[in-house]
Amino acid sequence: MVAALTRDDDLSARAQAVGGTLVLMLLPAVLLWPLAGLLAARVDRRLMLLVADVLRLVVVVTVPLVGMLAWTLAAAFLVSCLSLLWVEAARASLPALSPDEEPRAARTATRVVYGPAPAAAVLFAVVALVADAALSRGSRADLALYVTAGVFAVSAAAVAMIRDIPAAGAPAAPAPLKVLFQGPGTAAARGTGLAIAAASLAAAAVAAVARVRTGELGGGDAGYGTVLAGLAFGLAFGVFLGPRVLVPFSRRRLLGLAVVAAALALAVLALVQNLVVVVFMTAFLGVFAGAARSTATAAVTDPEAPEDTRPTAYLSSVALVGALVAVIAVPPAAGALGSHRLDLGDGAYDFTGSSAALLIAAVVTLVCGLLAYRRLDDRRGVPLVPDLRAAVHGEIYTPPREAAADAPQPVHRERGVFIAFEGGEGAGKTTQARLAAIWLRDHGYDVVTTHEPGATKIGMRLRAMLLDRDTTGLSDRAETLLYAADRADHVANVIKPAMERGAIVVSDRYVDSSLAYQGFGRQQPVEDIARVNAWATGGLVPDLTVLLEIPPEAGLRRLPAPADRIESEPRDFHERVRAGFRALAEADPDRYLILDASRPQSELAREIQYRIHAILPDPVPAGTEDATSTFPAIRDF
Ligand code: TYD
Repeated sequence: MVAALTRDDDLSARAQAVGGTLVLMLLPAVLLWPLAGLLAARVDRRLMLLVADVLRLVVVVTVPLVGMLAWTLAAAFLVSCLSLLWVEAARASLPALSPDEEPRAARTATRVVYGPAPAAAVLFAVVALVADAALSRGSRADLALYVTAGVFAVSAAAVAMIRDIPAAGAPAAPAPLKVLFQGPGTAAARGTGLAIAAASLAAAAVAAVARVRTGELGGGDAGYGTVLAGLAFGLAFGVFLGPRVLVPFSRRRLLGLAVVAAALALAVLALVQNLVVVVFMTAFLGVFAGAARSTATAAVTDPEAPEDTRPTAYLSSVALVGALVAVIAVPPAAGALGSHRLDLGDGAYDFTGSSAALLIAAVVTLVCGLLAYRRLDDRRGVPLVPDLRAAVHGEIYTPPREAAADAPQPVHRERGVFIAFEGGEGAGKTTQARLAAIWLRDHGYDVVTTHEPGATKIGMRLRAMLLDRDTTGLSDRAETLLYAADRADHVANVIKPAMERGAIVVSDRYVDSSLAYQGFGRQQPVEDIARVNAWATGGLVPDLTVLLEIPPEAGLRRLPAPADRIESEPRDFHERVRAGFRALAEADPDRYLILDASRPQSELAREIQYRIHAILPDPVPAGTEDATSTFPAIRDF
């Protein structure tokens, strides 16, 4: 409509009018979101849905009747505010209408609310095609608006028929700006945020100038609808594809690459003066941006705490800001840059303002994508192309240098592999040890999972003595020796026999716990404790120790009360333990993998798998089949 009302103006004024409309339509989401959430929680939602639909209908119908630019812009803003109310009320009502459990219900809500966008874009393209064929130039846009009003009427009727929409009671939505200023917490989340802002900027830049760009290429409203449909389908398909594509490939690398690919698609669609190519490139851009979005969401969601919506709220906020920057900046830039003709000997190349503005947006997206890739890369030093090629074949790539260094050791290994998990309280070692064991078993290995203290019969009695809060006055040396006694029994009766039969032993805690807790924590000489433990274990050292690092207050908060004797030690004790673990690990980086335990569980598991992969015996040792009574079915991954 705005394009139709400004058709007598020059191209730059039209671009700005269309872009301005998009800004007005995005603004409510930034400014009024919390208000909408609040209303959805307090007001009768059925009523809210009905009122929003009826008002939207009225406003949309008046636009072609009035036929003025100012009212059209105001209507865009009003309809967008009402849609915000509608979406929040619908989102708040869905959990009660869907039988799924909580986290799935939230995902269903997103799908239900945004899923029909591609269908809407196709409907628009069809309506525009009909209007182009049947109506005069002046009234072409009217048909689309009347159809929209009709859709609102259908929606109102549907809401009126659904009886069990609950009245009130859902949590209010977080304010996007507030979420943004609170920040994401970790550096990795910041990198993810940068990637998502860039992907969103690229997609919104296309939407912002699509009307003008298709006009330049002779496409009109139907062409515009096709471009929007391409974008919407691409986005939806990309969101679906993200978690399913190149499964063995690092998700963080994939995220960076998707943004870079979106930038390249944007550059091509800016430069090529052909509507068909532009439609296809827009769809590709959508696929990459959508894949980036779902990859990022999966990367920041903690499977342990799916109810924590802060990371996803942060991503939504940065996406919104990226889109807003694009719709505010790109149309005026297109207007300001204007058209230029390049003479190329026998032909000429028309370089329009919208091409130039999209090219600039592509460069900004590309730079952000590369920065995000660098910041997020969790496979530093591993070349990208072979890594990608291996992932296409469903494998994880191991660089030849590492493979050569590892080769003699795993292949000729005569004993099993020993992996220890260490860390302070609540670091999640038990979970990660379990995940690693499951993964190893899946690959056909004979795995023994165990823990300290208390993995043997005697050990259980020692554990009770050591951790019972009624044990008072136990001297530090006695405590050290009791842990060492437990460990000696553990090695002799569990670890050694398993290693001798070629199994992989995964232990939750080992000697380093004594060095950190009894040595650094209790402030006893660490060398003495190391000597006692070397004697107790017969000098058995893990092939790999995974250290999960977490600040004591965060770790202790994760634990259910009541605390045991060691957990209830004062805060500075736990600080010393943490520093002790770090010092041990940093002194021997070849044998340790240090991980930030606040990162999402799935990412940690993946990094641990990479590292374990390098020290595994290959092939699976003979005899494993007898021990596990399973086939070593999947050797590669
Ligand atoms: P654990 O059963 O692993 O509990 P969690 O990992 O859930 O904290 O460990 C029990 C406690 O024993 C733990 O607080 C750390 C302490 N500990 C030592 O102080 N020294 C040691 O050598 C070991 C193995 C554990």
